[in-house]
Amino acid sequence: MKKAIITSALPYANGEIHLGHVASTYLPADITTRFLKLNGTEAYYFCASDDFGTPILIQSEKENKTPEEYVKVWNKRDYEDFTSFGIEFDFFYRTSSPENISFVQEVFKKLQANGHIYEKEIIQFYCNVDKKFLPDRYVLGRCPYCKAEEQYSDLCEKCGRVPAEIEDPKCSLCKNPPTKEKTRHYFFKLTNFANELNQWLEADSNLQRDVKKYVQNWIKEGLVDWDITRDMNWGVPIPLDSAKGQVFYGWFDNHLAYISTALKFLNDKGLDGKNFWNAADIYHFIGKDIVYHHYLFLPAMRIGIGNEYKLPDYIPTRGHLMLQSKKISKSRNWYIGLKDFLGIYPTDYLRFYLALITPYSQDDLNFDWEEFASRINSELIGNIGNFVNRALGFTQKSMAGVVPNTTEFDQSDKEAKEKIHNFSSDLTSLMEDNSIDKALKKIIEFSAHFNQYFQKKEPWKGGVGSNNCVFISVNAVRSLAISLYPFLPESSKRIWTQIGMSGSVSEQPWSSISEIKIMEGHKIGTASPLFKKIEASDIEANKAKLGK
Ligand code: 2FM
Ligand code: ZN
Repeated sequence: MKKAIITSALPYANGEIHLGHVASTYLPADITTRFLKLNGTEAYYFCASDDFGTPILIQSEKENKTPEEYVKVWNKRDYEDFTSFGIEFDFFYRTSSPENISFVQEVFKKLQANGHIYEKEIIQFYCNVDKKFLPDRYVLGRCPYCKAEEQYSDLCEKCGRVPAEIEDPKCSLCKNPPTKEKTRHYFFKLTNFANELNQWLEADSNLQRDVKKYVQNWIKEGLVDWDITRDMNWGVPIPLDSAKGQVFYGWFDNHLAYISTALKFLNDKGLDGKNFWNAADIYHFIGKDIVYHHYLFLPAMRIGIGNEYKLPDYIPTRGHLMLQSKKISKSRNWYIGLKDFLGIYPTDYLRFYLALITPYSQDDLNFDWEEFASRINSELIGNIGNFVNRALGFTQKSMAGVVPNTTEFDQSDKEAKEKIHNFSSDLTSLMEDNSIDKALKKIIEFSAHFNQYFQKKEPWKGGVGSNNCVFISVNAVRSLAISLYPFLPESSKRIWTQIGMSGSVSEQPWSSISEIKIMEGHKIGTASPLFKKIEASDIEANKAKLGK
């Protein structure tokens, strides 16, 4: 049996999940996992909350909570929101788990033993009022490039650059100017890995070509060793006596939670987690903003411990979601929280629309309220919902719910049967290639073909071909139900029940979408409309909330 481990970028335990998160990362990963499982792969989908880092520590201090209390709240909330969106993790853990902490410390020791770590004295901002070093977000000042005020020392949000040295620095806690003090930091020798990283990039033909190209350019321009130390106590402690009061930078530990989370789940299940990892296809789904970390740091660290855990096979990397063609911004309320959205529309509406507009590329995508309504009304409801309801509704009303005996097939019956027969070969390669938007369009085309077929055969007139039409259409509904399962799990289950099938749709072999499985005499369940139209007036109201 083929094996696969799927992960998606770990969400910071620092605020709610919004549409931008799910479009590029979690939904594509969930669709792929569900497909792999149907297609006979022993696949597991893992994720965890990303608990460490200065923004989380600062926010917890503002809310008078310990960071542990603070991240616990977001870990739970994120998991609930994902679940209500039909994102079905096999295990959702946290980077602050005891398993991850000890795994990260072991990895560090191995990297050190292999000569990939060195110590260096550096100068850091220090606050004499708060009596602490001030990494990253603890320092505010003027960006040296674009001169924007009130920017963090690790990122200017105005121009997107990382300031070499912020001007007019202030402690973000007490607003006093910091001093500069010496501190000893540990560095990871990323520069050791240029050749091996290049070889891996060359050899792995599953990686997206354009991403590969610019990563190879970074390598060509020269890699820089990486400061993995932070002078604070929220993080994975550096396991050395000489590093008291120091922790690892969040990007040193977070991606190791892909492995430690997988090991915890697999070992608890009685499997050998490490063997499984090394026998599996490894997928890390990410957004394009974290390419550097996933194509350089992550593989370099795995290579640095002697490839004990294999490198990723796939790093599906997608662009950012825009909202009404503008950048998502929480502070300007140009933003839609996942929970709020799902309070208005069913999960499968959002899954359907996002899957349709999310290509397998770095291109940004755009959520547009009007387009959302029109695609749901015309493609999900007008096409798919309509065909399912027509075929099953007619069987119920005119055939007492029983699939009738067939007669000799005419040309259009034969074409329709052929359509079912070819469905799997049309669809499977798109699913395997991560082209989920194209795959969903294929499913829509399939349904459109059957709508036309049904229309042309006019079974309601009771002519000779009526029985064949019902027989083939009910079988097409079955194929649709299975093919839609990765995309619209809830609707797929409802269709399955309406066809009167036994067992669960999630347990059907994917390849059976190409088979005629429902036989003459089968009694269907109860047909009823699957979806409810979206009203234009509601869309106006939703749009009006943005930016307020
Ligand atoms: O950029 C982010 O949101 C990070 N929390 C992603 C972490 S992914 C990782 F663990 F590799
Ligand atoms: Zn201060």
